[in-house]
Amino acid sequence: MKLFSLVLLFFLGSSAVVGEVVINFSITCPQFFATPNGVATPPTVLPGTQYKQICQKRANQYEYATLYDTKNRIPVYSAYKYEGHTSCDRKDKWYIEPQLDDQNKGGDMKSDTDTTLPKPPRGDHQALNEDYESCGYDKGHLVPVYHTSSQSCADSTFTLTNAAPQDCYLNRILWRKVENDVADVLKTKCLQILPAGKAYVVTGVVPSIGVQKIINGRVNVPSHFWSAICCLDSKNNPLGSWGFLADNSNQKPISMPVYILEYMLTQLYGSHFALFGGKC
Ligand SMILES: *[C@@H]1O[C@H](CO)[C@@H](O)[C@H](O)[C@H]1NC(C)=O
Repeated sequence: MKLFSLVLLFFLGSSAVVGEVVINFSITCPQFFATPNGVATPPTVLPGTQYKQICQKRANQYEYATLYDTKNRIPVYSAYKYEGHTSCDRKDKWYIEPQLDDQNKGGDMKSDTDTTLPKPPRGDHQALNEDYESCGYDKGHLVPVYHTSSQSCADSTFTLTNAAPQDCYLNRILWRKVENDVADVLKTKCLQILPAGKAYVVTGVVPSIGVQKIINGRVNVPSHFWSAICCLDSKNNPLGSWGFLADNSNQKPISMPVYILEYMLTQLYGSHFALFGGKC
């Protein structure tokens, strides 16, 4: 009897790992994290039950990974492997992650208006499209469409778990330039060298604290956006890395070495924060 319940528990426990919201994304979808010295090394997973690890899945395919903050209803970061880009359509069809509100839902992202979703608690633990209506901020992508190499990946970036309220000028002009610069550097200094390197990107936000800015009484407006890249050679030795930090305003983003960005983020999050395990 005891053995039976243990076995049952094991199955129940492991079935929770199959969907998108996972126990440990460096086990379920390690392919999206830099592998300095051969080990998948995600950025720090902040402690606390409000943070959920998501292997972003659409049409039954994993596309990237996100650490999501269910209290502030914005991501902490999204991580992906950059494999060049093709021009993809922007369908602007937004998804949410059903499992954040109901563990028993399937692991694929679903349209924000899907009627099979719980309602309420639909949106209890995540942002919805309506939160952003006439809020004065853009839905700023963390994984940008510009860095995707397939239409299905481009489509999968349109999930509210991959977006946060972003100053419009930052989103449309300044941060777009960061995305372009990152793509250029990764192409010329990482992917095109021989033997070809491997390029990993992590992009995140810092929630506003102290004087909090909140839209629709639900979604935190981040104080900062940041991004970091790590280039590894085919044997997983670091070839180079680069960081960016921006106020969520019309101020120019600042580029800096990754170790400085880690230091700044440790101050901003108020807890130790490493990007590539300090190894890239
Ligand atoms: C996730 O799995 C990795 C690899 O097995 C392990 O090193 C890490 O400690 C795990 N993280 C958590 C939060 O359990």
